[in-house]
Amino acid sequence: MIIFGASGDLTRRKLIPALYNLYLQDLLPERFGVVGVGRKPYTDEIFREQMSAAIKAFAVSPPGDSPEKAKDFVSQLYYTSLDTSDPASYSVLKQKLEKLDKEKGCMGNLIFYVATPPSLYAPVAHSLAEHGLTREKSGWRRIIVEKPFGYDLESSRDLNKRFREVFSEEQIYRIDHYLGKETVQNIMVTRFSNGIFEPIWNRNYVSHVEITAAESLGVGERGGYYEGSGALRDMFQNHILQLVALVSMEPPVWADSASIRTEMVKVFDSIRPLTTEDIERDVIRGQYSGSVVRGETMKGYREETGVDQESRTETYLGLKFFIDNWRWKDVPFYARTGKRLPTRVTEIVVHFESTPHHIFYHMGGTDAHNQLIIRIQPDEGILIKFGMKVPGTGYNVQDVNMDFHYSSLSDVYLPAAYERLLLDCMLGDSTLYARRDAVESAWRFVDPILQYWKQNPTRALYGYPAGTWGPQEADGLFGEKGLTWRHPCKNLADDGEYCEL
Ligand SMILES: NC(=O)c1ccc[n+]([C@@H]2O[C@H](COP(=O)([O-])OP(=O)(O)OC[C@H]3O[C@@H](n4cnc5c(N)ncnc54)[C@H](OP(=O)(O)O)[C@@H]3O)[C@@H](O)[C@H]2O)c1
Repeated sequence: MIIFGASGDLTRRKLIPALYNLYLQDLLPERFGVVGVGRKPYTDEIFREQMSAAIKAFAVSPPGDSPEKAKDFVSQLYYTSLDTSDPASYSVLKQKLEKLDKEKGCMGNLIFYVATPPSLYAPVAHSLAEHGLTREKSGWRRIIVEKPFGYDLESSRDLNKRFREVFSEEQIYRIDHYLGKETVQNIMVTRFSNGIFEPIWNRNYVSHVEITAAESLGVGERGGYYEGSGALRDMFQNHILQLVALVSMEPPVWADSASIRTEMVKVFDSIRPLTTEDIERDVIRGQYSGSVVRGETMKGYREETGVDQESRTETYLGLKFFIDNWRWKDVPFYARTGKRLPTRVTEIVVHFESTPHHIFYHMGGTDAHNQLIIRIQPDEGILIKFGMKVPGTGYNVQDVNMDFHYSSLSDVYLPAAYERLLLDCMLGDSTLYARRDAVESAWRFVDPILQYWKQNPTRALYGYPAGTWGPQEADGLFGEKGLTWRHPCKNLADDGEYCEL
């Protein structure tokens, strides 16, 4: 495996720790090596030292971890210093790979992982091709590309075109690490292996679907990057739309890459395009302002390093949209994502219609509001809310919880998202990677919003104090029915305005 961008944050925090965990579980091939590539003039030894430290700091190790094992693993790491934007310098890498391949007997199988700044994705792919490194004459060649895959519809099409000039679609693995999460994969299992959900998973029984992907942190040191991105590009176009696809897609014929990814694309293709009026009414953008949270002073977005003092980049996005197909016609989907919200949480809430006839009303009773909550992180699990009679006179109904927490499976190791995805790529399974048409279709939905903001830069951008649930205007998305967002807490089974965050 060759990692471009090996001196960067992603390699240190995610990729190497994930590979180490695979190694501990005996899931890496016996003959295996990692070549890191970056501009910094590291030697193999320096790179190994740095990666040893990264493993100590970031690997959530399964049983079997030991200093000897870590040393063994790290001895299979190598480093080559080169400027990936300079095509001529790739011959150094090629020689190193040929030498290592002979020594280790990897049979010419190579995975290239591109974790550089996005402007280098296509140049890396083309330079590899120019040096004959993409040709599958001995062994297979695959390339994993990090997000963001494009900046808008046009640039994503262009990037796809440039990749397809030198790789076949089967060789390209576009990563969205959300798909590597156990709980995200479990959405499909919940829906398609339980007979009780599928009959009610449609417009006849579901009143609306709500998706939250909240972060409690601000942009930190990544202000420069975030200025060119914003919540729509950074979270909604990829992670949230993947969740939308999994929760709303039709049952695939089989659980294989082609069937699953075809159903996901059909969802993206069915999302009702937003008109200008829809965008003005149903898309709310916000930006966090400074505040004091639990005695700690939080900077506003515009005070963060690398951020323009008059920035209009959205750190919060709330929107409402529809999926125009047989199953979901006129069922509203609400999604929100933001930085500096009260807690870090990602979850999907499927809200079910209330009963057709309220037999307890005339006796002063109430009805339950059934919800199925799929918690992606933290406190991963599933919760169903249903009504129980409050003991005593009358027929008052209280919403109670039936919940399952992954943490209760104490002897089961929950692999990190990158572990699963890296292993799948080695095995040639692209199910959990985004296909070309899916990426473009997702951008097609998002593009009018980007265009609208570009053409109307002064349209409302609402401020919200750091540590709150975003601008109040986002509550207005639910209309007059008295509905609002669920208030998720740190623990899946808690909710309401008072809970641990
Ligand atoms: N970090 C994350 O959690 C995360 C999450 C999702 C996606 N991503 C994506 O992953 C990619 C990498 O992110 P990162 O956070 O690791 O970035 P980073 O810390 O800035 O690292 C960038 C890497 O690219 C290398 N690089 C830059 N220009 C180069 C050149 N001309 N030739 C050779 N190497 C070059 C840098 O090497 P030198 O410093 O040695 O020049 C460094 O290793 C980005 O596209 C990002 O969007 C990151």
